[in-house]
Amino acid sequence: MKKTLILSALLALAACGGPKEQTTLDVVPHPNEVYVQDGSFDASAASVYYGNDLDERSKAAVNAFAQQLFLTCGSEGSVVEGASDNGIVFELDNTLAHEAYAIAVSPKKVAVKASGLNGFIYAIQTIKQMLPAEVFGNAPAADLDWTLPCVDIQDAPRFSYRGLHMDVSRHFFTMDEVKKYIDIMEVHKLNTLHWHLTDDQGWRLEIKKYPLLTEVGSIRKKTLVGHLFDSEIYDDKEYGRGCYYTQEQVKEILEYAAAKGITVIPEIDLPGHMLAALAAYPELGCTGGPYDVWGKWGVADDVLCVGKEETMKFLEDVLAEVCELFPAEYVHIGGDECPKVRWEACPHCQAKIAELGLKDDEKYQAEHYLQGYVTARMEEFLQSKGKKLIGWDEILEGELAPNATVMSWRGVAGGLQAVRMGHDAIMTPNTFFYLDYYQSLDKENEPLAIGGYLPVEKCYSYEPTTAGMTDEEKAHILGVQANLWTEYIETADHLFYMLLPRLAALAEVQWCQPEVKDWNRFLDSADDFCAIYDIMGYSYGDHLFDTRGVCQTGDGVSVVLEAQGETPIHYTLDGSEPTPESPLYTEPVKITQTCTIKARSLRGGQMSGRTFEKSFTAHKAMGRPVEIITTTHPN
Ligand code: ACM
Ligand code: ZN
Repeated sequence: MKKTLILSALLALAACGGPKEQTTLDVVPHPNEVYVQDGSFDASAASVYYGNDLDERSKAAVNAFAQQLFLTCGSEGSVVEGASDNGIVFELDNTLAHEAYAIAVSPKKVAVKASGLNGFIYAIQTIKQMLPAEVFGNAPAADLDWTLPCVDIQDAPRFSYRGLHMDVSRHFFTMDEVKKYIDIMEVHKLNTLHWHLTDDQGWRLEIKKYPLLTEVGSIRKKTLVGHLFDSEIYDDKEYGRGCYYTQEQVKEILEYAAAKGITVIPEIDLPGHMLAALAAYPELGCTGGPYDVWGKWGVADDVLCVGKEETMKFLEDVLAEVCELFPAEYVHIGGDECPKVRWEACPHCQAKIAELGLKDDEKYQAEHYLQGYVTARMEEFLQSKGKKLIGWDEILEGELAPNATVMSWRGVAGGLQAVRMGHDAIMTPNTFFYLDYYQSLDKENEPLAIGGYLPVEKCYSYEPTTAGMTDEEKAHILGVQANLWTEYIETADHLFYMLLPRLAALAEVQWCQPEVKDWNRFLDSADDFCAIYDIMGYSYGDHLFDTRGVCQTGDGVSVVLEAQGETPIHYTLDGSEPTPESPLYTEPVKITQTCTIKARSLRGGQMSGRTFEKSFTAHKAMGRPVEIITTTHPN
């Protein structure tokens, strides 16, 4: 498939003073500045050059790109250390910001500049996305058009933190699956993997000082079948034996991610969500157990007994190994969904509350301040190891630890409160970026999900700053992340189905300046990014172009139809499949008789996406107002 180059109406002045036309490309996230020039560059005849002052990881990234390009376009190019006036040339430019890059394509040369690995990686992703999607694969495709348009790109991300979360506790994913997760993050220029390694349903990280965490804590005896809200049935099958990462394996993942410019932030969720640890070490709980690794989803009452000093020692020992293993600047200590019922009844926790002089006040109970004490102690410990603390927005309840970064998940309120208090925040609101939510309204035909409804356009619409925010507050918003909890997701195929293409929308929120975001331009690129997913072997949700319908009643019944983008919708009322010749939808369709309405959008000359379908049976009350009359019966 050849990429299209669409000229926008915008004219901008080029650095050299002459007019250049601002251009859009089928690249997601879209570069922040792109100008079109005349001509094209033939990548199938090119060699690749790089400066000898590039660091080793950048050289390796350039080399991997070159080998994949040569293989897929069938060229006999070579990789050469040194400068050149021809070919694809990677040069170090220390004047560029950390993650910025520049690409200048002329008929003879593609000049790529960056100040380090991340910039080079993003430049490579942009170049690859301007070429046929086959460049992301491993099969020769020499007969395709391997030219690049002559463009001038200057690009840098809007946010420095561009995260994606992965829950490996509820369901475990293999080393290869974690790597595949990282691969697709690289394609969309993310730079942080938030790895949720521990929870009630499984402890997945080897801790050498506490071997039972993985020997016992990784295995649950049974798992709930169906949805938490309507099932009490368990499968009685053991899950998770051997399902954890050794520290050696973690190092392998860290190196794999680092080579792609991705930092891995580990999460040890505390003091709630700790049943797996309690099953292994019951003495760390308020009641002393016994406890089981949980086979159910939701929030468990049993949490760590933080009144005991031995629990704090356990946490510090675990975090010490985590700090040693993970080079990231941050460690995530969870802090979410920690019920206080056990602490209320526990002599150790109550003694600690008395010792610290914690009191109920008009906003919070003393037990909330007890959690604040735990967070503050963890922060102090992490600081002693040169690390910073991130916690879910519950850490705002009680007293916020002095330098904590707040991860806002219960909507945006926590993040907004944190930045007003002068703290950093990472925005990961469930209202826009909980990718375990349904992506279609046709829930019966979707795999079971936790609930909600988050179509791609809702993710895309998110703006992390608000009107009235000061510049200082805006600067405290480090970035945006999507979370993918896996209670209902057992396989990698299902995982990627939930992730994609919503990840592409996330990437534009993270990377693009507000004026560069453009939903219709994004939709026009959908065939291209889906082609990349196909070539790379990812499953993905294909609801972008579905036609949706909503019934309105009142004065009769009418159906309101909707499809994304500026696409016409055609419909039939006789149950036949709509074609381009079927009536065009212009206003709500009135239903006056028994019929089946089917509607579908027309995109690029073809009927596309899923057909909306609904049957109606005519009767006298159809669409009439309903009046409910209640009567009381004399007893
Ligand atoms: C969360 O979703 N409990 C952070
Ligand atoms: Zn206790």
